[in-house]
Amino acid sequence: MFKKSLIAMAMGGTMAVSAQAGEVEVLHWWTSGGEARSIAVLKEMVEDAGHTWTDFAVAGGGGENAYTVLRSRAVSGNPPAAAQIKGLEIQEWGDLGFLASLEEVSEENNWDAVLPSVVADVMKHDGDYVAAPVNVHRVNWMWANPAVFDDAGVEIPTTLDELWAAAEELQSAGVIPIAHSGQAVWDTTTFESIALAVGGADFFSRAFVDHDSAALESDTMVEAFREFRKVNDYVDRGAAGRDWNVATSMVIRGEAAMQFMGDWAKGEFTAANMTPGEDYICAPFPGTADAFTFNIDSLAMFKQRTSASAEAQMKMAELVLSPSFQETFNLNKGSIPARTDLDMGKFDDCALASMETFKRTAASGEGLVPSMAHGMSTTSTIQGAIYDTVTEFFNSDMSAEDGATRLARAVRAAQ
Ligand code: BGC
Repeated sequence: MFKKSLIAMAMGGTMAVSAQAGEVEVLHWWTSGGEARSIAVLKEMVEDAGHTWTDFAVAGGGGENAYTVLRSRAVSGNPPAAAQIKGLEIQEWGDLGFLASLEEVSEENNWDAVLPSVVADVMKHDGDYVAAPVNVHRVNWMWANPAVFDDAGVEIPTTLDELWAAAEELQSAGVIPIAHSGQAVWDTTTFESIALAVGGADFFSRAFVDHDSAALESDTMVEAFREFRKVNDYVDRGAAGRDWNVATSMVIRGEAAMQFMGDWAKGEFTAANMTPGEDYICAPFPGTADAFTFNIDSLAMFKQRTSASAEAQMKMAELVLSPSFQETFNLNKGSIPARTDLDMGKFDDCALASMETFKRTAASGEGLVPSMAHGMSTTSTIQGAIYDTVTEFFNSDMSAEDGATRLARAVRAAQ
């Protein structure tokens, strides 16, 4: 029923283009300090091009609230011009007939030549671009406060064993070892990095891309749950329900030693005027140095009713891929540009390390995996089923064996 009414609404849309000023309404969930600075760059560029920007920000987690609002706007026949949707969700909206083709703008600006195929593939529906990529985030990072580590005489860990040993020492020194944000999306973000460390990229793909039951209930997955359980011992009582950027600020202020989070966290350190390597450390999540869990943000374009808004929307799509937007946005956001042909001269060591690992793993075909926790490898239904299991495990005394069995069962039921 929902699907039928969405299709009917989509069919009502028209798309004529002529040169005139129009309005673009942009739905996103970039509301933290670093995120807001990033999206402000696009607003300014759209306005400089003579169009009007209507900001439609819906705060919350990894976009769950924004997606809910988007569905209700679409059902009522009034989707925004662009929405921050990504991964397989783009395909679902494309299947429903809602998305506008970016064929013209992508051909004129040579998108196929400047985007790596791992990025381009996600943006296309039936061979046509329907979304414009703003960046590539790496999810498997750890953010650390070096002063807190030094004061406790503890080294930055590079393996899971070192991580638990470091956490133990930090705790004995009276520090909160891990700044955790206890929401399903962030529990699962930590869990996927641990699963990657325990089982490696091939295992990760079998479990979270192929949804192979044998991998989901394997001894390796049991081991991943066992390791994940250890996180509980090193978080503070306030972790439940905490927002991710509040956890980052604990590391910024030296109230906690480290955080496991994608590099949108770097946007917060940057907004606080901190320098990587001095004021904070970015290190691959322990045990995953040779892997890259990617999370690509993109603005999908919805069919518009007036030619003026279609015009403005296409201009925005063009601007998103422009070198100057890709540079400034990503300097603020903590990610790397989606285009891999740009001068990285202004980027810091964390971004350079990210770009190097991204290119290396993409070229070798080894170690580059889509983030399950951030919608790159699964539909939202399967993702939701995984979130529920991981969070229930984290907040109960469920055994690791039961965790893996329930994970496999939940994924099968959601397929
Ligand atoms: C998005 C990021 C965003 C983060 C926190 C992720 O799912 O890809 O762009 O900064 O959520 O809101």
